[in-house]
Amino acid sequence: MSRDPIPLLDLQAQHDAIRGEIAAAISKVVNDQRFILGPEVAALEEEVARYTEAPFAIGCASGSDALILALRALDIEPGDTVVCPSYTFFATAGAIHRLGAKIVFTDIDPTTYNLSADTLAAAIDGLSNVKAVIPVHLFGQACDPSVETVCRDAGAAILHDAAQAIGSGFSDGGKMGSRETTCFSFFPAKNLGAYGDGGMLTTCDEKIAARLKTLRVHGAATKYFHDEVGMNSRLDSLQAAILRVKLPHLDHWNDARATNAAHYDALFASAGAASSATPLSDGGIPVRTPEPPVPGARHVYNQYVIRVPAGKRDPLREHLNDEGIGNAVYYPKPLHVQPCFAELGYQKGDLPESEAAARETLAIPVYPELRREQQERVVETVISFLSR
Ligand SMILES: Cc1ncc(COP(=O)(O)O)c(C=O)c1O
Repeated sequence: MSRDPIPLLDLQAQHDAIRGEIAAAISKVVNDQRFILGPEVAALEEEVARYTEAPFAIGCASGSDALILALRALDIEPGDTVVCPSYTFFATAGAIHRLGAKIVFTDIDPTTYNLSADTLAAAIDGLSNVKAVIPVHLFGQACDPSVETVCRDAGAAILHDAAQAIGSGFSDGGKMGSRETTCFSFFPAKNLGAYGDGGMLTTCDEKIAARLKTLRVHGAATKYFHDEVGMNSRLDSLQAAILRVKLPHLDHWNDARATNAAHYDALFASAGAASSATPLSDGGIPVRTPEPPVPGARHVYNQYVIRVPAGKRDPLREHLNDEGIGNAVYYPKPLHVQPCFAELGYQKGDLPESEAAARETLAIPVYPELRREQQERVVETVISFLSR
C-alpha cells in the first residue's frame, strides 16, 4: 500500500491555519477598491521596516524587480562591474545584465553555499572598478559579515539579495534588511509568500528610498512628471493585505523551520552523516547535512539542502519521487556556464565549488507544518537508498 505523499512545501496547510483572516483581508481590499499601492501597501511597508529594523521599506512587483530597481538606485550603468555568486537563482545575475553592467561571478564556500570573504576577495583581486557586490543569503542563511568588509574595502556598494532570507540574522546580531539596501521576494514558495508575485526593498539611505519610490512608478516623483525613465513595478494591495496577515506569523514559522532542520540534523547524525563542513571525499555515509548556523546568526531554512555524491543525486531524486517525497535541485546549472552568459567567457571548471554544489545538492521538505514522523520517513528513505 502506498503511503501519503510528503510534498516539498505544503502551502495548503499554512492557508488552512489562516483561512478566515485571509478571506477578511481580501474582502476589505475588494470593498475599498484600492488595488494598486494605497493604504495596504503603505501599512505593509511600515510593518516590514519595523520587522527588519530598517529605516525605509518600499514594496515592488517581485524580488527580481527589487534587484533591478536597487541597481538603478545605486546608479549602476552600462560598463560598470557588479559581482555576484554563480550559484544562485537566475534573477541575481539577470538584473545586472538587464542594466548593461558587466557580471563578475564568484565561487562559493562549500560549507554554507554563500560567498565568503575569501571567495569574494579572489574574484575581485586585480579589478579596480567594482561598483557593487550582491551577496546572496542563500537558503535562508545570512553571509558572514566579513563579506561586507571585503566589499567596503574595495569601495563597492553592497546590495543584499535576501529573496530567501526574510527573518534571518547575521552572526554579529544584525537583522537581515537592517543595513545598506536589501531585496526580498514574496514569491509564493518563499518563507513569507504572497498569493502571487511580490517584492520589497529595505534601505538605510533616505535618498535611495526616495529614488526607489520614484523608479517603481515610471520615474515620476510627481504623477505625470518624469525626470527619468523608471519601471511599472508596484506591489498590489491584495498581495500587501495577504502579507500583512502572514507577517505576524513569520517568526513562528521560521522557528518551526529551524526546529525541523535541527531534527533532521539529529536524525541524519544518528545514522552516521556528517555536516557540509566535512567534504564528501572524506568518506563515511555519503550524505552531508547543512552546517548549523554559527553562534549569533539566525538561519530561517527557506530550504534544507543535503549533499550527496554527484552520481547518486539524480538516482536518489528518482527514488524519492517514487516514494512520494518532494524534493528539488537548487540549482542544477551554475550561472557562469549558462548559455545566455557565454559572451562573458567563463569555462566549465572556472568555479569548481559552484559546479560541485550544482551536481550534489538536494532540497528536502522542511516547511513549518512538517511532522516528526514525516521527517523520520524522509531520513529513513534517504539513508536506506544511500546504504544500498
Ligand atoms: C536568490 C533569489 N534572488 C531573486 C529571486 C527573485 O525573486 P522573484 O521570484 O520574486 O522575482 C529569487 C526567487 O526566486 C531568489 O531565490
